This record gives sequence, structure tokens and C-alpha cells, in this order.
Amino acid sequence: MNVIPSPVHLLDRARSTFDLTTLERAIYGSNQRREGMRPQDFDVDPQTGFFPPRPLPHLPAAFSIWEESLAGAQQALRLAENQTPAAVAKRTAGERWRANVRSWPVLNIGDLRDNLRCLQRAHMVLAFNLHYYVHSMPKANKDALVHIPAPLAIPLAAVSKELNIAPVLTFADVVLWNWEFVDPEQPLSVGNMRYVNLLSGTETEAAFYTASAAVELKGVEMLQIIEGFVNLADTSEYSSVAKIYRDLCQLKTTVEELTEIFRSIRSAVDPHSFYWIVRPWWNGADTKANGQPGWVFDGVPNYASFDLAGPSAGQSSVMHALDIFLDVDHKLVHHRQPAPSEANKKAEHGFMERMRRYMPGAHREYLNRIGSVPRNVRQVAEATPNLREPYNAVVDTLKRLRDEHMKIATLYVITQARTTPPASAGIISVEEPKGGPAVGTGGNVVSVTLKASRDATQRTRLSDA
Ligand code: HEM
Repeated sequence: MNVIPSPVHLLDRARSTFDLTTLERAIYGSNQRREGMRPQDFDVDPQTGFFPPRPLPHLPAAFSIWEESLAGAQQALRLAENQTPAAVAKRTAGERWRANVRSWPVLNIGDLRDNLRCLQRAHMVLAFNLHYYVHSMPKANKDALVHIPAPLAIPLAAVSKELNIAPVLTFADVVLWNWEFVDPEQPLSVGNMRYVNLLSGTETEAAFYTASAAVELKGVEMLQIIEGFVNLADTSEYSSVAKIYRDLCQLKTTVEELTEIFRSIRSAVDPHSFYWIVRPWWNGADTKANGQPGWVFDGVPNYASFDLAGPSAGQSSVMHALDIFLDVDHKLVHHRQPAPSEANKKAEHGFMERMRRYMPGAHREYLNRIGSVPRNVRQVAEATPNLREPYNAVVDTLKRLRDEHMKIATLYVITQARTTPPASAGIISVEEPKGGPAVGTGGNVVSVTLKASRDATQRTRLSDA
């Protein structure tokens, strides 16, 4: 296959092993990146943000077995716990699908290494196949180890290493890389994209991905504001303060619009189907609180250290970018008011950082870059009387967004955990203990995690001078 290595990808590949500054100079031939932040250097597009500007191309013919399995998976497979007659009738086809995966040759990903878009596509295709494989397979008991066959496990681990991303289905796979244009002549927008791979094959799943995409695409406006701040030479100049003032006012409007998108989820995504039909496919191997068995990556030496929680919108890079820009202290490092509650203190403070490990490495680098400015916007606002009010207005708006998000999580996870599964789920015995605290995809107690996050946002507010 004839592929030309892109500078972005070479940069990404070499990050872990070479001195970044030397590498940057070699690639860019100047100090460009050190002087200003260019989103493209982090695989962030000025128009489409964390989405690639065009759908990912299909893999070259040598890897078509991966693509073909994914294309046939939805038709052949149902969740293992689904005991409806229609699902039981599919068992033979399901076993044939899994036997086919086990019979694949172990493909070397060498030819994909130099093409970022092919690597992303390979990750998406293999990770979808992984979740189909694991969750369709009948288990002897709930604690049985699940063996991921080497022909799937080895290339998935290798591709993930190249992309610096977890070897499991992530938000990037289901939302950022899993769409095609409705009209390829028109630019990317929520109305002009269609989600392709749906584990459950339901409208509910497509609607969740679409709502997440709406947040990501609206978030591009925030990225432009954030990058404008990062690239300001001197934040104390009159013109800079005026720009920050204008941008904070605009940011408040954007966060209000994001809140509206969150509100609209309730009319677009069915909570019962979300919890019982879609969500089980997303489970990873970390969700031990569900009694989920561990996964063994056959032929991969260090799999025990992998992050395997599964996709969560908590991995959305735009939401993290906003938090980092405003300096929301999720880790409770700073002494801010009101002091953390006992529940806040007990929440897992590394949650947001852990979610970042599920992002593509280049996007994680982008977030690091935003966080590395000498003076963040909170410090600038604290020191500049005119900026305190617009800064606090953004923080208040983000707090209201998180209030809305908590209501959604309560309705879609906490309330549903106490309901009976729909007949179409075909679940005879419910594994999750009724009445126990509901856990998120990441395995944390949902209410505690989200309240801690909302309260950390509130503490970001600057007190009256
Ligand atoms: C039906 C819709 C949704 C539900 C039920 C939901 C539920 C949850 C849950 C349970 C968590 C806890 C963490 C975990 O996964 O373990 C969480 C965290 C999070 N979710 Fe959502 N979510 C939804 C939509 C979204 C969307 C559309 C976004 C943005 C694209 C989003 C962004 C986040 C973020 C950034 C976190 C990390 C905690 C925080 O920032 O407060 N969520 N969500």
C-alpha cells in the first residue's frame, strides 16, 4: 500500500520515544508550534474540531476481513443474555461469526502505521468487533474470564499503541470516527452526518451518538476561543483584555447552547432502551462493580495494565477543554469555596484524568497544551476587575449545564436501574443488584461522580473582590 506519512502522524508516533522539541523542529523546520498553537498539529480541525473533516476511508484490501466481520455483526449477533426466541435463533450464526474471528490470520499492522486515518479506522473496526465478540458470547458464569482471540487482540493492541489510545471501544470510535456524510458535497454538520455502526442496531443508540456529535460540533466555537487565549502574547494589554471580555461573553452563549443540546436529549433518546438495550454493549472489563468478568488479550503480554472501561461521553475532549480552560479543579488540589462536602471528598478525584486516557493521544496532547499556558484565564480574570463578572458568568452557566447533565444521568441510569427490562431485551435474570448504587460506564457511582464534578465547577467561581 502506498501511503505518505503525514507530519501530524509522524509527530504522534514519535512523541513517546523522542525529544518533542527536536522532533518538532525536524518536522516544521521552525519554532512555529512553540510560538502559537495550531490545532492541526494535534489532529484537531479548525472547522470540525475533534472530528476528522471527512469520514475515515475503509481499510485497504489486506485488512478486509476485519471490515467484513463488522459489516455482518449486527445481523448475526445479539447480546448473550438476550433469551428472546429471535435472539436464541441467532445463536448458531453468532457462533459462526465468532469462530470466523478466531480463524483470522494475525495481521501485521505494518502497512497502516504511516497513515493516521487508516489507524483510526482500524481501531474503530477492531474495537467494535471486540465488543460484539465479548458481549454476544455465552458465558459459563458471570465471573468467567473472556479470552479475546489473538487475531483480534494482537492488532487491536498494536493499533492502540500507535494512536496512544485505550484498546477498547471509546467515545472516539463510536462518535468521532463512526459516521458518513448524508451529502458529501456539503460540510460536516449534525444534519449532514449518519452513524454507520450501531451495536444494538437501535434508533436510541444512533440518537445518543448524534446528541454527542451535536455537543462536539458546537464545542468547536469554544475551541476557537480557547486557542485565541492560548495564543495571546500578553494578557495584560488593553486590546487583550478587551478580546478576553468579548470571548468570555461569547463563551457563555455557547455553553448555554450546549445546555440546550443536553436538554434536547430527553426527547431524542429513549431512557429505557438506552439502559437495557444499548448500554450493555458498551460495558468494558473494568466495570467490576457489575460483576463483569475480566478480559484476557490472548497473545498480548501486558494486557493486565490496559484501560478497558468502554465508551463514555465523559471522554469527550471538548468538555475537558472547557474545564481546563476555566481551571475547574476536579482533583481538589486548590483551596476553594465552598469547601468540598464529605461526598465530594470520597469521589474519585482522578476520574476526569482517567477518562483522558481513552482519548486519542494527539487530542490528549492538545488538552495538555491548553493547560500549559503560564497564566490561565481564571488567574487573569482574578487580577482584572473587568473580567471577573464575564468569567463568573461562564462558570455559572457551566454549572447549570452540569445540573442538567445530572438530571439526565439520573433519568437514564439511576432511575432505569430500578426498572424491569423490556421484553425485547430478553433478560431473565438481572445481574445488577436492585437498589444498589448505579455505576457509570467507568465503574464509578454515578451520583457521587457527577455531583463532585458539578461542585468542583461551582468552586471555580471567583469570590467577590
Ligand atoms: C443519555 C445521555 C447521557 C447520559 C445518560 C450520561 C451519563 C453519564 C454518566 C453516568 C457519567 C458518569 C461517568 C461514567 O460514565 O462512569 C457521565 C459523565 C460525563 N458525561 Fe455524560 N451522559 C450523557 C450524555 C452526555 C453527553 C452528550 C456529553 C457530552 C458530549 C456528556 C459528557 C460527560 C462528561 C464530560 C462526563 C464526565 C463528568 C463531568 O464532566 O461532569 N454526557 N455521563
